[in-house]
Amino acid sequence: MDARQLKIKAAETALGYVEDGMRLGIGTGSTAREFIALLGEKVANGFSVTGVPTSEATARQCLELGIEVKSLDESPELDLTIDGADEIDPALSLIKGGGGALLREKIVASASKSMIVIADETKVVDQLGAFPLPIEVMPFGLGATRLAIEKTVSRLNISGALELRHSGDGPFMTDGGHYILDASFGRIPDAEALSVALNMIPGVVEHGLFIDIATLAIVASGGGVRTLKA
Ligand code: 5RP
Repeated sequence: MDARQLKIKAAETALGYVEDGMRLGIGTGSTAREFIALLGEKVANGFSVTGVPTSEATARQCLELGIEVKSLDESPELDLTIDGADEIDPALSLIKGGGGALLREKIVASASKSMIVIADETKVVDQLGAFPLPIEVMPFGLGATRLAIEKTVSRLNISGALELRHSGDGPFMTDGGHYILDASFGRIPDAEALSVALNMIPGVVEHGLFIDIATLAIVASGGGVRTLKA
C-alpha cells in the first residue's frame, strides 16, 4: 500500500466515528483531505454534519463537496474533531503545523469533546522532536521573539536551528497573518514543559505541541489499522 492508500484507510476508519448531525471540527493537510473527500461522498448520500474547518483550504474543499460549513463563532462547541498530525507519541501528544494551520487546528480541537488523529504509521514516534516544531509568531518583533525562544529553550536544555518558513518569494503567512519558525530540536524530552515555556513568550502566538488534546489516534500501516488511546 502506498502512502496515499494508508491515509485513505485511516480516514475511512475515522469516518465510522462520525454520527449523523454531529458538529465536526475538520482538519488540514493531505490526510485530512482524504477524510474530507470521503465525508463529502457520505454527505452527497444524505448524511448531515456541520463542519468547522481549520483552514481556508479545508473550508474551500468542504464547500466544493457540499459539506455545510460554519465558523467556530457560529458553532463554538463541537462533538468531534478529526485531523492529521506530523508526530504522535505514546501519550498521544502531537506535533502539528506542518501544513501551517496549527493555530486554528488547536483552537478547534480544544473546542471539541474529543479529537481523533488520523495518520500512517510513519507519524508514530517514541519521543517528539524529529519533525521540526512549528512555532507561529507575530511578524512584529520577529528578531526579538526568535531570541526569546532561543533563550527559553536553552534553559530547558534544548537547542536547534529556528528557520523562518518560506513560501514562494517571501515568508509563509498563516491564515491568521502570522509567520512560522520551524524549530529543529531533534528531541523534546519534556513536551509539556516546552509548551508552557513557549506560551510565556509574548511574540509567540501558538506552537504545534498538542498535549492532552487528542483522545484517539487511528494509525494505518501495511499490516492494517490500529487505534491508540490517550
Ligand atoms: C497542518 C497539520 C497537518 O495535520 C499535519 O501537517 C499532517 O499533514 P499530512 O496529513 O499532510 O501529513 O498539522 O497544519
